[in-house]
Amino acid sequence: MNVIYKIISNFINNKSLYMGEKITLSEHMIQSAMLAEKAKSNKSLVCACLLHDYGHFILDEPNDLVIKNLDGKHEEIGYQYLQKFFKKEVVEPIKHHVKAKRYLVRDKKYFRQLSKASILSLKLQGGMLSSKESKAFEKEDFFKDAIKLRKFDDAAKNIGVKIKDIIKYKDLLKASLK
Ligand SMILES: [Fe+2]
Repeated sequence: MNVIYKIISNFINNKSLYMGEKITLSEHMIQSAMLAEKAKSNKSLVCACLLHDYGHFILDEPNDLVIKNLDGKHEEIGYQYLQKFFKKEVVEPIKHHVKAKRYLVRDKKYFRQLSKASILSLKLQGGMLSSKESKAFEKEDFFKDAIKLRKFDDAAKNIGVKIKDIIKYKDLLKASLK
């Protein structure tokens, strides 16, 4: 099956809730992309937002991971799969979106606005970056996009938001292929 159709069908068929939140994984990712569009982000970043948690679709039972206190390394699993098809501007911020949270929690204000599930997963993901790790991260390509993606991600957990149909992103997905 063509990768675009496979992605779209995974979005349509996803019924499981986004870990510890009250919306589905599909709704959460689409909501992230909608926020990126609203902020007039470039297409690659919108696509990165749309696919940032795709690794959870690949992992069998994403909800079990929090219950069992396991970190499924969804960012790495998603990245490994998506980098075969998508531009690096799309996949690199995805690869780093967990690290971006570990970077941002150095700011107490940022930490305070995280959801319970996000705080729990932070521990499993290795906690706050050290200052040495933070400096190294700042030098990485796509550091800024990873931070932007993370902020859209954190804000995309609202219930009652009218969610765009995944089909509307078909052209964007196609244009983001390498
Ligand atoms: Fe997310």
